[in-house]
This record gives sequence, C-alpha cells and structure tokens, in this order.
Amino acid sequence: MSTATKSTLDPQKKSMAAEHFEEQLRERIVGQERAVERIARLYQIYLAGLYPPQRPIGNYLFLGPTGSGKTRIIEASSEILFGTLNAVLKVDCAEYAHSHEISRLIGSPPGYLGHRETTPYFSQANLERYRTPELDFTLILFDEIEKASDTLWSLLLGILDKGRLTLGDNSEVDMTRTIIFMTGNIGAERIERLLEGGIGFTDVGARVHDPKMDKQIYSTVLEAARRKFSPEFMNRIDSVVVFRNLTDDHIRQILDIELGNLQRRIMQSAGDTKFSFELSQRAKDFLLAEGVDRKYGARHIKRAIERYLVYPLSNLISTGQVRYGDHIQVDFRKRNGALEFQKASPRLKVVGEAVPMA
Ligand SMILES: Nc1ncnc2c1ncn2[C@@H]1O[C@H](COP(=O)(O)OP(=O)(O)O)[C@@H](O)[C@H]1O
Ligand SMILES: [Mg+2]
Repeated sequence: MSTATKSTLDPQKKSMAAEHFEEQLRERIVGQERAVERIARLYQIYLAGLYPPQRPIGNYLFLGPTGSGKTRIIEASSEILFGTLNAVLKVDCAEYAHSHEISRLIGSPPGYLGHRETTPYFSQANLERYRTPELDFTLILFDEIEKASDTLWSLLLGILDKGRLTLGDNSEVDMTRTIIFMTGNIGAERIERLLEGGIGFTDVGARVHDPKMDKQIYSTVLEAARRKFSPEFMNRIDSVVVFRNLTDDHIRQILDIELGNLQRRIMQSAGDTKFSFELSQRAKDFLLAEGVDRKYGARHIKRAIERYLVYPLSNLISTGQVRYGDHIQVDFRKRNGALEFQKASPRLKVVGEAVPMA
C-alpha cells in the first residue's frame, strides 16, 4: 500500500518546476492549449499532494482526430519530466485485441501451459523504474482504447477505480502512484463532417481555426464517447480533453519543431559529423505536401523528414560530401521535383541531389 508521501521539493521549487514543465510542453505541442493546461494542472496537483488516495493520481481521456498530438503530448511530458520518452508505460490497445495477449501485461498463472518466465509489463519493478523522490509516479498510456478487448477493458476499469492490479501469479501491483492517460478517436468522423459543413475551410481548402466550432465539436465528441463507452468507465474519468483538428498553420509549426529535433539529433549524434542545415520555404512546402494527408493530421511529417532529408543527408555524409562544421542549405528544385543540398560555405557548391529512399 502506498503512503501519500508528498513531493520532496520546497514550495518555491515546486512552482518553478510546474512553470518550467508547462513552458516546455508548450514548446513541443502545437494548437492543443487545453490539453497542455490540463496536464500542467495535474502536475501541480501532484506537487501539492492534493490527489485522491486509493486510486490513480489522475485518469485522463484524450479524444479527437488522428495525428493531432494525443500520443505525442504524453511522450513529450515524459521527455520533459523524466528525460526520456521510455518512462511512459505504453499499451497499444490494438496489440491486445485478443484476450490471451493480456498475459504480456500481467503474466500468466503459474503452471499455465506455455507459461514463460518473462516479467509482466505491469510488474511493480517496471512501474517504479524511472521514479525519483521528486517524481514519485508513473505515466501510463492506454493508446487507442476503442480497440481494446473486453479483458483489457475490465483490467483498465480495475486500475482506474482502485489503482490496483492483480497479476497472473495472484500478486498485487499498486497502481495508485500513476497518471493514466487514455487516447481514442471516437467521434473523429463527426468532427470531420462538422468541419466539412462549410466552416473551418478557406476558399483554397486550407484548414483555419474557428473558435465557435470548438464547443460544438466538444459536445459532439463527448456524446459519441458516452454512446460508445459504459457509464462506469466514463464516471471514472477525471477529465475529457478533445483535441483540435490542426490548421495548416499548426502543421507548419510542427514541421519546424520536427526540423529542430532533427538538428538536435545531428548535434548529439554518435557519429562525428556534426553540421547545421536550413530549409528554404520552398523546401518546407515540398515536405508539407509530401508529409500531410488531411486524414492523418501531422502523422506523416516525420516520415517525410526521414525519407527526403535524413536519408539523403546520411548518404552525403557517408560519401564525405558533408563534413564536420558544414552548413547545408536545402532547397526544392522544380526541374527535377526533388530537394537539393548545397554547402553554404566556403563557397556555394552543389554537393548532391536528394535521392529519396525507395
Ligand atoms: N499538436 C501537435 N504538436 C506537435 N506535434 C504534433 C502535434 N500533433 C501531431 N504531431 C506530430 O505528429 C506525430 C503524430 O501525432 P500523434 O500524437 O501520434 O497523433 P494522435 O493524435 O493520432 O495520437 C507526432 O509524433 C508529432 O510529430
Ligand atoms: Mg495516437
């Protein structure tokens, strides 16, 4: 049984920690202010020690369209708080669609046919791996819950309600010091239909934000969730956040964030070729055109970056054309429909053209 020990930070440090966390989250997450505020508030509640005992610190449900940042915001929270996104225990509910797969989470009963001595994902040790005196809790993500099997549902309900989980070998895991996030895209189609009703698009078909629509979207999604999920589930949720459809402007900002991440990756890479790069507007537009599908929000941006930037750059490095300290300018050439890489110094010289990964 856990004792509700409060965070060991002094009050001033606590308020700094909370502010810092929210700031950092804002830098990483675009267009989902409500979700950022909710997570930041939850962290404050944790720091203040004002969470309920005998159940998880918070049970949050994130709904909304695909590729709008529902999963990303949890990963980003983990990165900011624990320094790694691996600190989140992530359950992709679709992978546990069949009841027998649940044993990967909780282990099987002793003597069970096919029983192997593997540690269940939800063992107490796994849960506590990244905890520190200041961060004495675990982030848990049940991703895409609409795909969960009935067995996974009842397991989830038990966790949400009592903060306890019984493993296959009958031992009990304390899950009270956890923050449970669940994501789903129930109602996403309805949002799409609402937006297509004429509002939310400009003449050229770009997505723009319409604040009047937010309320309507929220109630529509909540209604869809109430129809899909049982009242006993909905009653255990502390907060439902509906994520927004991202506008074209948001997506451009996300591209800049991801390009910044790539630059950081290059600077921290194990290889000794550290260099900087910069994209022209036309090059960015090309990546956006390749990486954005209305149906998938910003989901494919990273893939476009890997394919059209990372791979060609790696190629230029391995052939010695890009060296330590270079500054690479990337532009789009309509002529051959590809990105072109140039060294900015000492003189402008074409070092290669993008050969995207097949
Ligand atoms: N609001 C956002 N802010 C920053 N990045 C985002 C946002 N939405 C989507 N992305 C980008 O798109 C990718 C997929 O988003 P994800 O959070 O997995 O979508 P989903 O809402 O379907 O869970 C992320 O890894 C990130 O690169
Ligand atoms: Mg997701």
